[in-house]
Amino acid sequence: MYSFEIDTTAPKSEVYAEMVRSADALTSGEPDAVANMANIAALLWEYLPDVNWTGFYRVVDGELVLGPFQGKAACIRIPFGKGVCGTAAQSGETQLVEDVHAFPGHIACDANSASELVVPVRRNGTVIAVIDLDSPTLNRFDAEDAKGVELLARMIADRI
Ligand code: SME
Repeated sequence: MYSFEIDTTAPKSEVYAEMVRSADALTSGEPDAVANMANIAALLWEYLPDVNWTGFYRVVDGELVLGPFQGKAACIRIPFGKGVCGTAAQSGETQLVEDVHAFPGHIACDANSASELVVPVRRNGTVIAVIDLDSPTLNRFDAEDAKGVELLARMIADRI
């Protein structure tokens, strides 16, 4: 059993630093990418308040394919350039979306989702996956969330 002391009153930057330390400890020395993504999806779910989906889409043969996640069953394949995830994968840039309904081409996997943060994971300069977070609250994610998830993405790039 793994249990983590999560101080939800701590500043966001500390919550992310602590989450990345936990992710590092859980994935260190473990070569299985699915196991590592599954544990990281669970950590994101556990550490972050007010989210309804946390997980991965992986780049497989030039498109995004659903990876380990927490939340409702989701769409399986997303072409590059489509939706928030496909836009992040194609541009290589983090997508911070205050209101998913205002994002052209947003793909609704859970009707409750209102805002979204998608961070590309790059290995040797190439996008290999994206980390996707959804929230039922408008404008849930800010630049600190983006920074925290980008830190996580860099740490796990060689482990997924
Ligand atoms: N909303 C995403 C699709 C994935 S689900 O949110 C899990 C998108 O527009 O790419």
